Amino acid sequence: MIVNFCSLLYSSLKNGVAMMMSLRTAPSLPLIFLLVIHNVFSKNGLGVNYRHSHICALKNSSVIMSCTYTYPTRYKIKKVFWTKNPVHGEEPPDLSDDPEYSQRLQYLGDEQKNCTIRLSHVTQKDSQMYYFRFITDKPGEKWLGVPGVTLTVTELQVESPETVKEGHNVSLTCKSSCDLTDRATFIWYRNSQPLTERRDRNNQLLLQSVRREDAGRYSCGVQGHNHYLKSSDVQLNVTYPPKESLVEVSPSGEIVEGDSVTLICSSDSKPSCRNQLV
Ligand SMILES: *[C@@H]1O[C@H](CO)[C@@H](O)[C@H](O)[C@H]1NC(C)=O
Ligand SMILES: *[C@@H]1O[C@H](CO)[C@@H](O)[C@H](O)[C@H]1NC(C)=O
Ligand SMILES: *[C@@H]1O[C@H](CO)[C@@H](O)[C@H](O)[C@H]1NC(C)=O
Ligand SMILES: *[C@@H]1O[C@H](CO)[C@@H](O)[C@H](O)[C@H]1NC(C)=O
Repeated sequence: MIVNFCSLLYSSLKNGVAMMMSLRTAPSLPLIFLLVIHNVFSKNGLGVNYRHSHICALKNSSVIMSCTYTYPTRYKIKKVFWTKNPVHGEEPPDLSDDPEYSQRLQYLGDEQKNCTIRLSHVTQKDSQMYYFRFITDKPGEKWLGVPGVTLTVTELQVESPETVKEGHNVSLTCKSSCDLTDRATFIWYRNSQPLTERRDRNNQLLLQSVRREDAGRYSCGVQGHNHYLKSSDVQLNVTYPPKESLVEVSPSGEIVEGDSVTLICSSDSKPSCRNQLV
């Protein structure tokens, strides 16, 4: 929304009358907006807009950073590239020259207005800030799109109680450390077998009236076009009361008065009960 407004006002700047009108029709325009605009567009009309300023992505997935840039039509673009964590006062390096990125980085944009990029097979180490830079043919007329795009790479984790009583309901959640920017469809597994049980919400698995057979190792995963991610396993145990009890007497056979005997009660319950009576 701010972006749209910025470009509206930016085009208005080219036309004094239109600018007066937009200021008059929006008298409540706060000063802060003007400051933001100043930050996004320099006075000579160079600027970068990112579709998302924060991206939360799953490990091993591909991340698309959508981006557009503007500059006066009389300018020619000499160089476009992405960089990360620029150091003030130093010319930022081109990320595609970085061996850690060169194989995974794909510039999908052009040398006109689109600066979209794709980074594939992201790892935790890619959780950084990324910036688009362009250099024009006019001396000193170059631009770094600040603030950039903050990328957070997350893994999946199953949140589940350790035990549940037979017959009760239990809900398992597939969690990530940040809210995923792209919608994901989760897959659930019990002992590595995919499940078809009902979902509570997209990332939750609802087990109703839990049976003994529901006990096992649970994990969740996401399958994308060109990536796959699975959480580690979490053990869910089901507890149930005994149906039948056994009494063992030892030593067995004939017992004479005064002898000591041991009575052991055992059952099929979980956790199993073993009571000894001496
Ligand atoms: C920029 O290019 C990408 C990849 O070709 C495309 O998906 C996207 O729609 C383009 N964005 C704009 C604003 O044209
Ligand atoms: C389990 O969930 C179902 C459906 O939501 C509900 O009808 C039932 O009462 C719940 N059982 C328990 C033990 O909470
Ligand atoms: C990443 O995704 C690829 C493509 O689906 C898959 O072959 C690979 O096993 C995944 N790597 C990890 C570490 O999950
Ligand atoms: C769950 O069951 C496993 C295997 O039977 C056992 O090793 C583990 O200690 C149990 N965990 C809990 C919390 O009862």
